[in-house]
Amino acid sequence: MERVLALVLLGPFVFFTTVTSQEDNVCFRPVLTANIETDGLQRFFNPGAELILSCKQGYTPVFGPRKIVCAASGEWTKTKLMCKPKRCPYPEPLSNGETYYEEIVFQSVINHTCDEGYIMTGSSTAVCLANGTWSSPEPECKPVSCGLAPIPQFGMIIYDKRIRGNATDYGLRVTYKCLPPHVIIGNARAMCTLNGSWTKTPECRVVTCPAPENIDRGYMSSNEQRDYDYQETVKYGCDGDYVLEGSLQIVCQQNGNWSEKPSCKAPCRVGIQRGRILYKGKQIWIEDLQPDRVLHKDIVSVYCMEKAKECGYAVPTQCMDGELKIPECFEQPSNYVYTFNSSSLPSEIAHC
Ligand SMILES: *[C@@H]1O[C@H](CO)[C@@H](O)[C@H](O)[C@H]1NC(C)=O
Ligand SMILES: *[C@@H]1O[C@H](CO)[C@@H](O)[C@H](O)[C@H]1NC(C)=O
Ligand SMILES: *[C@@H]1O[C@H](CO)[C@@H](O)[C@H](O)[C@H]1NC(C)=O
Ligand SMILES: *[C@@H]1O[C@H](CO)[C@@H](O)[C@H](O)[C@H]1NC(C)=O
Ligand SMILES: *[C@@H]1O[C@H](CO)[C@@H](O)[C@H](O)[C@H]1NC(C)=O
Ligand SMILES: *[C@@H]1O[C@H](CO)[C@@H](O)[C@H](O)[C@H]1NC(C)=O
Repeated sequence: MERVLALVLLGPFVFFTTVTSQEDNVCFRPVLTANIETDGLQRFFNPGAELILSCKQGYTPVFGPRKIVCAASGEWTKTKLMCKPKRCPYPEPLSNGETYYEEIVFQSVINHTCDEGYIMTGSSTAVCLANGTWSSPEPECKPVSCGLAPIPQFGMIIYDKRIRGNATDYGLRVTYKCLPPHVIIGNARAMCTLNGSWTKTPECRVVTCPAPENIDRGYMSSNEQRDYDYQETVKYGCDGDYVLEGSLQIVCQQNGNWSEKPSCKAPCRVGIQRGRILYKGKQIWIEDLQPDRVLHKDIVSVYCMEKAKECGYAVPTQCMDGELKIPECFEQPSNYVYTFNSSSLPSEIAHC
């Protein structure tokens, strides 16, 4: 029955719908482009009906009639009404900063940034509103100033540069010191940063370490059961033939822990019954080593036989915390050979 003709016009014009019917023509509700609106709500309009078009919020009419009429043919009269987005004023150039934008019309966004060393007061971004004003006023870029640096309790501060009043520019550095016996915890240097705040202020604290513990087979220079101050030291020694490995003394550190303790390392027995060894540059028959004991890290050589060439050679081995490995090439002579033919031992014959 009904033939619907939808004519689509390009650009911001009105789409309109035509209804043709044999007997009585009515107009359908017009289809409008995005930026145009009307207050007529019904679906059909009788010929002669008028509609007032208007621009949506944020848009301004530019030209063309704002009224359309439903003609007897069932068509709306044509309109060339055009609605353009509202413009916001051009942003003023920002001193010590930059403003970025592509357009300055309704819903456009502008961004502001400050140059390095300047801090923004105000909003960094603004939107062009429906009434043609920016959503926030332009910000200001002010030179970064951190104010005076905070001073920790029991601490003092030294500025790298002389300051006037409370003007502390971006990049200014300070050094912190603590009044003894307080110790600085954290970074002794601080800086006025880009965002106008100082980097972390250190703390001044009294640091103590708990009474140190003794080491096995050793003794300490102090047995006092008390807290020890920062940088206090305690010395260690080892009993008898035990040898101290590590640092002779420990120190109470900033973190309240002692530095690493040394340890006492055991001496070794040279585990051969018969033979001659080379120890501290001297050849010694094993029974003459009294007592049979070499110290941790000492080097002892035993003699092995080069069978093909019938010569002897010394092979070194080291005492490691009570353990001295005898080289595999060492052959312990029989009691007989050792007693009656010792001149045939590898330590006594020609050396290779
Ligand atoms: C403004 O900043 C926003 C968010 O960072 C970004 O999406 C937009 O592209 C920027 N606009 C301009 C014109 O730089
Ligand atoms: C524009 O609109 C905004 C938000 O709706 C309002 O705060 C502002 O006062 C208006 N400005 C003018 C000049 O009407
Ligand atoms: C510096 O001092 C002035 C006046 O003595 C004061 O108004 C200002 O807020 C201070 N600025 C800072 C960053 O502390
Ligand atoms: C300032 O910047 C530093 C790092 O540069 C950051 O750790 C700190 O949280 C910032 N402070 C503020 C108030 O933004
Ligand atoms: C101090 O020593 C304890 C035990 O060795 C360890 O758990 C702790 O992490 C140390 N503290 C610091 C700050 O290094
Ligand atoms: C001593 O040993 C050498 C070599 O093994 C051998 O030639 C010699 O006969 C031995 N002498 C005695 C008295 O056993």
